[in-house]
Amino acid sequence: VGEHGTNLKRVLFVDDDRNALEALKRTMEPRTEWQMAFSASGPEALTKLEQSEFDVIVTQIGTPGLRGSELLNEVLRNYPNMVRIALCDTLADDLVLRSASTAHQSLVKPLDAATLQTTVSRAFQVREMLASPRLRTLVSQMTSLPSLPSVHMKLVESLNNPDLSSRDLGDIIAQDVGMTAKTLQIANSAFFGLYRYVASPAEAAVYLGVDIIRALTLSTGVFSAFQQAGLPDFFIGKLQRHSTITGLMSSDIAKQEALPKRICDTCLVGGLLHDVGHLVLASSCPEEYNEVLAATGKDGVSRHEMEQKTFGATHAEIGAYLLWLWGLPDAVCNAVAFHHKPAECSATVFTAAGAIHVADAFEHELANSSDSAFHSVVDMKYLNELGLADHLPAWRRLCSRHGDRGEQP
Ligand SMILES: [Fe+2]
Ligand SMILES: [Fe+2]
Repeated sequence: VGEHGTNLKRVLFVDDDRNALEALKRTMEPRTEWQMAFSASGPEALTKLEQSEFDVIVTQIGTPGLRGSELLNEVLRNYPNMVRIALCDTLADDLVLRSASTAHQSLVKPLDAATLQTTVSRAFQVREMLASPRLRTLVSQMTSLPSLPSVHMKLVESLNNPDLSSRDLGDIIAQDVGMTAKTLQIANSAFFGLYRYVASPAEAAVYLGVDIIRALTLSTGVFSAFQQAGLPDFFIGKLQRHSTITGLMSSDIAKQEALPKRICDTCLVGGLLHDVGHLVLASSCPEEYNEVLAATGKDGVSRHEMEQKTFGATHAEIGAYLLWLWGLPDAVCNAVAFHHKPAECSATVFTAAGAIHVADAFEHELANSSDSAFHSVVDMKYLNELGLADHLPAWRRLCSRHGDRGEQP
């Protein structure tokens, strides 16, 4: 049930090419459960938005007549909780890249009906995953995530090097939660129609290439250094270190359990992104987030309880919501959503969520951190039920080699 007591799913399609718009109508007609409107120009679309409410907008960008990127900016400003999907002919152009960073997802033409229908219905599903309208708006407004200042500097410097390879770039991006999420968002947009997903920063860098990443960094400002007044200085560095090591450890555990390569890869990137919800909260509502940090642990109140009480959801759900909205692979989003309660993901099969859950706790043990922000403990009931509890000592030994990485400032 939506915010207005209805189950209506309302989507607005915008394209200045009349034939394309007609084709869209025909393609979407079978979806009788959707309420659809079609506009051939930006001003017409804005009038429709003023007259009635929509959940999703799908607009062509990159054609000079339509000014689709301005339309998307307008939607971001005035209707921030709508899901924004861009259609474009290529991702290479600077202008397109800029609007592609305002859109939650971008689909590259030629486009088949199934891809578009799947993308739009997934957008409707995603909107229901976070109950709080305030949180939905807050996450939907995020067009980028801040990066660790030292990694951001490294990225900018490396882009001056004419011999820079996409492999080097992938290595730099993989050191940062925000850059990884954003790069995967864009790479997966472009890949959508090919029925495969880009699941690692290394693959994303190779696919997008040095030039697109340079344009993204220098002209669109989608990568920026974290500068948040009010949060402890060490916060972002600690989050990044915790995230990187959790990714490495969880993929080690998955490999040790001989899980398929696909799951090991999901662990690496899911582990890196598992606490992205902390980054969302810290950068978009630092005061409340700080209060949650300060209050956690007092009088036996857990961080989850505090998050639930303050925001109406936990960092795991908030992070997964962002990644879902950004079109990251489902496997990665699920691992993030369930990293604190892996049994709810699957109580019978050891999944990426399970491996990340264990790695998360190991990282705390190794960092010997009493810091309440990222604290977590292994769910032994879950491991017992899977018959994996006795694997724990071997996993711990295996993962201990990542421990000394935590020593750098
Ligand atoms: Fe967490
Ligand atoms: Fe964590």
